[in-house]
Amino acid sequence: MDTTVTPVDHANPIATLPPSFRWGVATSAYQIEGAVAEGGRTRSIWDTFCEVPDAIDKGDTGEIACDHYHRMPQDVALIRDLGVDLYRFSVAWPRVQPRGQGPVNPEGIGFYDRLTDELLAGGVEPWVTLYHWDLPQELEDAGGWPNRDTAYRFADYSMMVFDALQDRIKTWTTLNEPWCSAMLGYAYGAHAPGRRDFAASMRAVHHLLLGHGLATERMRAASDGRHEFGITLNMGVSTPQTDSAADRDAARRSDALGTRIYLDPLVRGRYPADLVDDLARWGVTLPVEDGDLEVIRTPLDVLGVNYYFSETVSGVDEDGNDTDPDGLPVSRVIPTGRPLTAMGWEIVPEGFTQLLVRLHNDYGLPIYVTENGSAFDDVPDETGYVDDEDRVSYFDSHIGAVALARQQGADIRGYFAWSLMDNFEWAYGYDKRFGIVRVDYDTQERTPKRSAYWYRDTIRSLRG
Ligand code: FCB
Repeated sequence: MDTTVTPVDHANPIATLPPSFRWGVATSAYQIEGAVAEGGRTRSIWDTFCEVPDAIDKGDTGEIACDHYHRMPQDVALIRDLGVDLYRFSVAWPRVQPRGQGPVNPEGIGFYDRLTDELLAGGVEPWVTLYHWDLPQELEDAGGWPNRDTAYRFADYSMMVFDALQDRIKTWTTLNEPWCSAMLGYAYGAHAPGRRDFAASMRAVHHLLLGHGLATERMRAASDGRHEFGITLNMGVSTPQTDSAADRDAARRSDALGTRIYLDPLVRGRYPADLVDDLARWGVTLPVEDGDLEVIRTPLDVLGVNYYFSETVSGVDEDGNDTDPDGLPVSRVIPTGRPLTAMGWEIVPEGFTQLLVRLHNDYGLPIYVTENGSAFDDVPDETGYVDDEDRVSYFDSHIGAVALARQQGADIRGYFAWSLMDNFEWAYGYDKRFGIVRVDYDTQERTPKRSAYWYRDTIRSLRG
């Protein structure tokens, strides 16, 4: 990489981040690894979902992805050259425990063992996510997350990974974005396993949280005290379009289903009363058994926050009705005219500050931003270089938003850019590029974009 350093602008709030602030880049297994049938790995729900006609844009699959499974050492060199402190990666359950049952697969865990050593040798600290959506297919066949047993299976699998890597890895996060697993996977059918059943999605929420609690309790019991444990949630801010009762109620419901349904049980040991009332009205119950909430409330050392956008919502449809033909309340996202990313997501950095301060005030946990970033329609030059000013400006405003939240008292200790490199963006396939490093999928060549140099230089400047 080029070695010129862009000096930090001292009028920028980013300049107030202390030298102790920790920086990282993030990826996830299915999005980058490829090698889906190698080393004893069995199928996950994403391998199956990718075969469903029209489920994924252009019929893309994770079969090869960034071929990271075969290119890991050179990818770690890229990470090292960015000068980051941390690398957040996820472990593929069906690699480590094929079919989601039985003993650990030595070849599967061996990959993460080598990755860990390679990172440490490069001076980069590994940060683990145990579940980034790639459930072994056999566990989905047995009912998936709506089935209580999956929570216990997850705890067993987590212990396999912990036993193998705990001597070298300090931070252990259980789930990435359980909202996506439950809602996109089981209610909206947009993600694997592609089910459309709201009642099942609510059972999935509870079992995901239970799995988090069971796994964390067991890992902590086996820890010598050197580790920290947490979970990553995706959140935003929902602002009512007007002050009407219907719009305010739509914002409340969105906050209840997006944020409080996870954080209230995790931190306070109870589901929010307004949500439980809503669910009862819709004939849905959370499958809570005696003792579950105690398990779910196991202490969190760190809360991972993934932020991409915020929304303005209305509780009425275009004709002013507040219920839909099924009698369910209307929740409609209202465009506000802000600039959009290639995902169609509004760019709302001030919502990020607001979210972080609110999380601090309401839940009081140490926070790491475990994902933040943006997709744009990158145009490479003939050398593959992308001058992604739009992505730089997104990072600049959002890292600035983090700095402002710190100034307002939020205990934010670090930030991970999503993502190290372009990768398989789930139902959007390879078309949406979030990387700070470009991947040419024909040649697998990696080329750092301008945002990679900007990120490296920002980190360097802040270290003084
Ligand atoms: C998050 C996911 C991550 C990536 C980004 C864009 O919801 O955790 O895998 O797809 O969105």
